[in-house]
Amino acid sequence: SAIRHYNFTVVMKNTTKLCSSKSIATINGKFPGPTLYAREDDTVNVRVSNNIQYNVTIHWHGVRQLRTGWSDGPAYITQCPIQPGQSFLYNFTLTGQRGTLLWHAHISWLRTTIHGAIVIFPKKGVPYPFPKPDKEKLIILSEWWKADTEAVINQAMQTGLPPNISDSHTINGHVGPATGCTSQGYTLHVEPGKTYLIRLVNAAINDELFFKIAGHNLKIVEVDASYTKPFTTDTIFIGPGQTTNALLTTDQATGKYLIAVSPFMDTIVAVDNVTAIAFLRYKDTLAFSPPVLTSTPAINATAVTSKFMDNLRSLNSKKYPANVPLTVDHYLYFTIGVGINSCPTCVNGSKSVGNINNVSFVMPSTALLQAHYYNISGIFTDDFPANPLVPFNYTGNFTGGISTMNGTRLFRIAFNSTVQIVLQGTGIIAPESHPIHLHGFNFFAIAKGVGNFDLVNDPKKFNLVDPVERNTISVPTGGWTAIRFRADNPGVWFLHCHLEVHTSWGLKMAFVVDNGKGPNESLPPPPSDLPQC
Ligand code: C2O
Repeated sequence: SAIRHYNFTVVMKNTTKLCSSKSIATINGKFPGPTLYAREDDTVNVRVSNNIQYNVTIHWHGVRQLRTGWSDGPAYITQCPIQPGQSFLYNFTLTGQRGTLLWHAHISWLRTTIHGAIVIFPKKGVPYPFPKPDKEKLIILSEWWKADTEAVINQAMQTGLPPNISDSHTINGHVGPATGCTSQGYTLHVEPGKTYLIRLVNAAINDELFFKIAGHNLKIVEVDASYTKPFTTDTIFIGPGQTTNALLTTDQATGKYLIAVSPFMDTIVAVDNVTAIAFLRYKDTLAFSPPVLTSTPAINATAVTSKFMDNLRSLNSKKYPANVPLTVDHYLYFTIGVGINSCPTCVNGSKSVGNINNVSFVMPSTALLQAHYYNISGIFTDDFPANPLVPFNYTGNFTGGISTMNGTRLFRIAFNSTVQIVLQGTGIIAPESHPIHLHGFNFFAIAKGVGNFDLVNDPKKFNLVDPVERNTISVPTGGWTAIRFRADNPGVWFLHCHLEVHTSWGLKMAFVVDNGKGPNESLPPPPSDLPQC
């Protein structure tokens, strides 16, 4: 295995899209940012130098960070921010991991423009567990606002309303094409009769997305850097923070085919019709030839998302077994919700509050991992509730005043214990699908269902054989998702909704995984250049 060195310099870059220009925070002046390439078991060193006026951290989303929690990146969870003019060396090993992941800024809403892909090839000489593709193509989906990121976040935080809908989605940084200005949109150039491995990344901050290519099916082979049983679909459903690898065979007539991206959003609070389009173009097709068209599912097509998620299964082969924990040490039941608290100083007299088990997470002023490692008291408590504080009909139309409380509460679990979490979506304000992301672990998604989780009957439906393994999972609208993982990684690990506005509103919590006794069970001391608050 090799050591891969990267230099990430955070710089502002003047960028024009949709006929308007603004200065955006980028890595090395690129949007999307540079792709990290490595092989399984390689060590990656990324020096991040902050040359902008804002604090920055970078998170390597889906990288396990086994005993390297100091390099995980969420601000105030595992590290204090890298201040303007400072730098930090992220140093981690991709132990047993291969596939597509992403990296992104993990402070405020900087990930809107600071994000990119991580491509991890299998070890030298190890083939993919599917026919070797002729070529690979990376597609990063994102969103674009003409307004500054700061203005977008301020609007959402001050009014307590959802953020303004983005002005476009982007495909590999391209908007359009039909903007009338400069953009031609993104073109995926292909040759006929070949198989392409498409590495699809959703780096959007507020949208789960549909992705579709006219006239072509896609064979899913991997999600979140875990191999899946191959299955064929015409539409990919991908939440923010998720990645999907799919095989595309160019077996259609030479021509141009529409690539369509549109949001999945089952909320009553915003209507998002923003889409992005690009073209798949066969070799020897004229640029202006009329494309074969297609359309993505309706914005609230829950049947499509549900079916897509049901089809996802771990490969679970001899070589790539699914090691689902069969016994559980911690049974947790987390309600996921967005509520409204009164707020006399706010624009509308109230504000939206994201919560888990009625606790709205308060960001600490120093990094939780440091507080844990050095036993600094007064930074957090470890009394996060294992169950919701106020039982009620979670998915009913609830209009009463369940108010949330604040706290920097963590849930403590012993090293190597096994955890089951039922993530229960609630209907307090609007039933909404939440992409929940866990740092430091992959989990198995053993079941999902509609309505309230039934403690007696639903466990009978658990798939403990070949459930999909991932790091981000959509908790269905007005329903629940059950996950299991083994806490084999010491540190402090963030769990949050990957819709940025919900995270900002407090829909987040963290686990502290106690240092055990053996050398592999404890966290080494922090690197000497770890930023201080
Ligand atoms: Cu991709 Cu905590 O985030």
